[in-house]
Amino acid sequence: MASSIVNGADTLKLISTIPRSGLSFHGSEFTGNRFPYKGLVSYARKATHAAKIMAPKCSISSSRPAAQLRFIQHKKEAFWFYRFLSIVYDHVINPGHWTEDMRDEALEPADLYDRNMIVVDVGGGTGFTTLGIVKSVDAKNVTILDQSPHQLARAKQKEALKECKIIEGDAEDLPFPTDYADRYVSAGSIEYWPDPQRGIKEAYRVLKIGGKACLIGPVYPTYWLSRFFADAWMLFPKEEEYIEWFQKAGFKDVQLKRIGPKWYRGVRRHGLIMGCSVTGVKPMSGDSPLQLGPKEEDVEKPVNPFVFLLRLILGALAGAYYVLVPIYMWLKDQSVPKGRPI
Ligand SMILES: C[S@@+](CC[C@H](N)C(=O)[O-])C[C@H]1O[C@@H](n2cnc3c(N)ncnc32)[C@H](O)[C@@H]1O
Repeated sequence: MASSIVNGADTLKLISTIPRSGLSFHGSEFTGNRFPYKGLVSYARKATHAAKIMAPKCSISSSRPAAQLRFIQHKKEAFWFYRFLSIVYDHVINPGHWTEDMRDEALEPADLYDRNMIVVDVGGGTGFTTLGIVKSVDAKNVTILDQSPHQLARAKQKEALKECKIIEGDAEDLPFPTDYADRYVSAGSIEYWPDPQRGIKEAYRVLKIGGKACLIGPVYPTYWLSRFFADAWMLFPKEEEYIEWFQKAGFKDVQLKRIGPKWYRGVRRHGLIMGCSVTGVKPMSGDSPLQLGPKEEDVEKPVNPFVFLLRLILGALAGAYYVLVPIYMWLKDQSVPKGRPI
């Protein structure tokens, strides 16, 4: 599986060694069209001149800019979206976007080396990623948290997860004490969080000193049609946004590893629902140094049912495009001779 790593430990100077098709933070090229060659790419962590160049134009704290619709980047809409999607999630959705070999690649930087580690899997859903975690960690030490009881019901049916703690909860407001876990894992959930920075701040809080967060999530497309559907559906962060969220939360040694389905041959222009694995280490005990205002979305607040339904339907329709993309890429992979770009 092609993959590459970006970390936030060194300086921007190393960027000049990256191939053109690879990760570059200049202008819009940073998402690239294909995976770069394997390698470690770094950039400045502090607010230096270099870091300023790489800051995205939109404010990180404005998590859902008005210009981007993101119909399902809401807790209520995501809840109902998964009410139905949970029925086909493991068998129809995952095989196109999130395969077992991708999962193993993505979990590798989480460094799950000890069976006694305390691990929380946030937005753990049907437990597909948890199945990867319990290969290295005892299930009794793993908690699966999700806001969808329908998704969790599927996780409960899995024999290998029988000993896991399975709880309902919100990624932006975790029911764990500060300095609780050795590892925080979250795969494919950030795209639904109205305030991703708040979720990453929570990841920091619940980890012990020296603990590691591993967040796996989508990457933003560069192809116009894919961009349109991605923006209508949910949050597809840019790679530098992930890094900035981690750094703002207080994480050190922030690294980003690119992942993707094998049959994409490294193509990233359509975006990827599972496109990168971002890790960071908590350097000090206690809460994150980052201060945030009130929550972006108050689920207790009544919403206009018509607006809610319209968002749910339009978001689901936009999401349907991303059921077709992996099929299209698979057909291209089958028809274009090996070694040629697709
Ligand atoms: C694409 S699924 C990923 C499931 C699982 N991690 C996996 O790897 O297959 C996204 C999950 O995130 C959950 N989710 C979305 N927003 C959430 C939130 N604010 N708090 C907790 N879970 C959330 C959804 O209910 C859903 O189960």
